[in-house]
Amino acid sequence: MASFKLLLLPGDGIGPEVMREVEKVLAFVDRQGLAGISTEHALVGGSAYDAEGKPVSDATVRIAGDADAVLFGAVGGPRWDRVPYEDRPEAGLLRLRRDLGLFANLRPAICYPALADASSLKREFVEGLDILIVRELTGGVYFGEPKEIVTLESGEKRAVDTQVYTTGEIDRIARVAFDLARKRRNKVSSAEKRNVMKSGVLWNEVVTGLHRAEFADVELEHVLADNCAMQLVRRPKQFDVIVTDNLFGDVLSDIAATLTGSLGMLPSASLGARDPATGRQAALFEPVHGSAPDIAGQGKANPIAMIGSLAMAMRYSLGLADAADALEKAVSRVLDDGTRTADIAPSGTNSVGTSEMGDAVLAAFAGALG
Ligand code: IPM
Ligand code: MG
Repeated sequence: MASFKLLLLPGDGIGPEVMREVEKVLAFVDRQGLAGISTEHALVGGSAYDAEGKPVSDATVRIAGDADAVLFGAVGGPRWDRVPYEDRPEAGLLRLRRDLGLFANLRPAICYPALADASSLKREFVEGLDILIVRELTGGVYFGEPKEIVTLESGEKRAVDTQVYTTGEIDRIARVAFDLARKRRNKVSSAEKRNVMKSGVLWNEVVTGLHRAEFADVELEHVLADNCAMQLVRRPKQFDVIVTDNLFGDVLSDIAATLTGSLGMLPSASLGARDPATGRQAALFEPVHGSAPDIAGQGKANPIAMIGSLAMAMRYSLGLADAADALEKAVSRVLDDGTRTADIAPSGTNSVGTSEMGDAVLAAFAGALG
C-alpha cells in the first residue's frame, strides 16, 4: 500500500470548519487501507500572521515542498484589513504558489443536475455544464515587476503593476490545457486581450504555434477575454477547456463558479511541473470560495468544494483515481437525495450544517466503495 504525507493548511474564516470534514474522509481512506495517510497541520493567512508574524512561515513553505500534497482551506478577513500589504493573508497563498512553482491551476465548473435551479442562469443553460478553466498561476500581473506605488514630483501618486509573460510560461500552461482537453471533449478556448496587450499577442502566437506543431487533433479557438466572460453567461456549454492568464483566470473562474449554483461547490488543483527523475510534482488543492468571514464559526459553511479538492488530490497526487471518482459520485448522490447546506438550499427549505453534510458525503462514499 502506498503511503502519503499531506500538509493541511486550514487557514482563516470557514477554512478550519470545511477542513475538518476532509479530515474525516482522510481518516476513512487510511482506515480502509486505500492508502496510508499521515497528516501535518500548519498555519497560513491571518492566523499565521497573528501567531508567527508572517502569513506563511519559511518552515511551513519547506514542509509544503516536502509533502505529497497540500490541502488549503481559505485565507483573509476584515480582521486583517490593516496589516501591512506584504503581510496580508493572501500573500501567504501567493508565496506558496510561487515558491512551489504551482503554475497550472485547474478549476472545473460542473453543474450538478440537482443544483441547476440554484444557478443564476436558467436550468436549460447550465444543466450538464462541465467546463474546465486552466489558469496560469505563477506569472502575469500577479507577480510582474515593477509593482509599486511611487510619489511623483508633483505630489501625485502613481501605481504600477506589470503584466509579463515569456514564451516558456505560455507554452507550458497551453500544454496542460491541450493534454487535458484530449481526455475530455477535445476543445480548447484560449482567452487573452491581443487587441490591446502585447502579452496577449505573444500568448496567441505561442498557443497557435504549439497547437499546429503538437496538438492539431484538438479543436482550438481564440477568444478575447471580455467576450469569453460574456459567452460564459450567455451560452456556457459551448466551452470545454478554457486556458488563460493569471488575472483573466481569476475573474473568469468566479463567473464559472456562480453558474454552478454556489461558490461553495468548486474545487481546484494547483500543480507544478513533474520532476522527470523522481516523478514528484508539487501540488496544492483548495476550494475556490474564500474565507466567508460572515458565516465563519457557525458550522453552516458548505464543505463540498473542500471535499471536491480532496477528490482532485486523490486523482492528481495520490494515484487513487477510482476513489476520487467514488468521492465525486458520493457528492452527487447526496445532492440528489436533497441534502443541502444553506448556500444551495432553496429559500424556505431545510438545510444541514457543515458536519452533517460532511457525514452524509462520507456515508455515501463508504457505500460506493462497498
Ligand atoms: C483565487 C483568489 C486569490 C487570487 C486571492 C485570495 C489572492 O481570488 O484563488 O481565485 O486572486 O488568485
Ligand atoms: Mg479569485
